[in-house]
Amino acid sequence: MNQVSPISIAQVTDIHLFADENQELLGMPTSESFGVVIQRLKELDSKLDLLLLTGDLSGDGKPESYERVDNLLRPLQIPTYWLPGNHDCAMTMEEILNLGLFSRRKSFERGGWHFILLDSSVPDCVHGHLSLETLDWLDFQLTITANKPTLIALHHPPFAVNSDWLDTSKLQNSQELFAILDRHPQVKLVLFGHIHQEFQHQRHQVQYLGTPSTCIQFCPQSSNFALEQKSPGFRHLKLYPQGTWETWIERVPYFHQLELTATGY
Ligand SMILES: [Fe+2]
Repeated sequence: MNQVSPISIAQVTDIHLFADENQELLGMPTSESFGVVIQRLKELDSKLDLLLLTGDLSGDGKPESYERVDNLLRPLQIPTYWLPGNHDCAMTMEEILNLGLFSRRKSFERGGWHFILLDSSVPDCVHGHLSLETLDWLDFQLTITANKPTLIALHHPPFAVNSDWLDTSKLQNSQELFAILDRHPQVKLVLFGHIHQEFQHQRHQVQYLGTPSTCIQFCPQSSNFALEQKSPGFRHLKLYPQGTWETWIERVPYFHQLELTATGY
């Protein structure tokens, strides 16, 4: 790769696989929709350098669900990194998703960029929170690698997305995260999942990006829980070594009739 070539990355999020491959999430066969996303990842023009899985890989936190994530993604032969969401079991993930091209590392460099993955999950809670230990670790990581453009990922959105029901579970201590990022101008991008919809917000020099799920989509700007009949998707990014980037959402051709009246996500 020459100096001006970007690295190509896919952010894949909120997969919600279950131990039972036939279990559905509000009428959505999550294995099937994820399969269509994987097919699209295979067909991308440029081979992906990296996969980032930003939480809720599992819908039940069971070992079998992570074994299925591993089995389904392994044929892609792409280095894969992950972080836990509110539906995940971080300890189980650490055991299962750390073989072959799967890595449990949370700080690494590639293509001239520094990647930092944060655990914002709180046991038995839906909302997100970054512990003091995680915040201190983030600050340290940003201090020791201050010369590289940096991408940070976590599961929960640091911003409200104008959906009352969903906003109660956003990251609860965003100001503490912002205080650290404000001290480290090399941070360019913050990626997250959880909201099952596309989202974009700029704060200072940092772009904050939310990404559709590989299964069900939440209705944007809805005060109550509501699903949108929109295709599953993922985010494609190209990161250039000088610190510039491009990104867009890819939707896959998959439709399944959902239980639109269902509640209790
Ligand atoms: Fe979530």
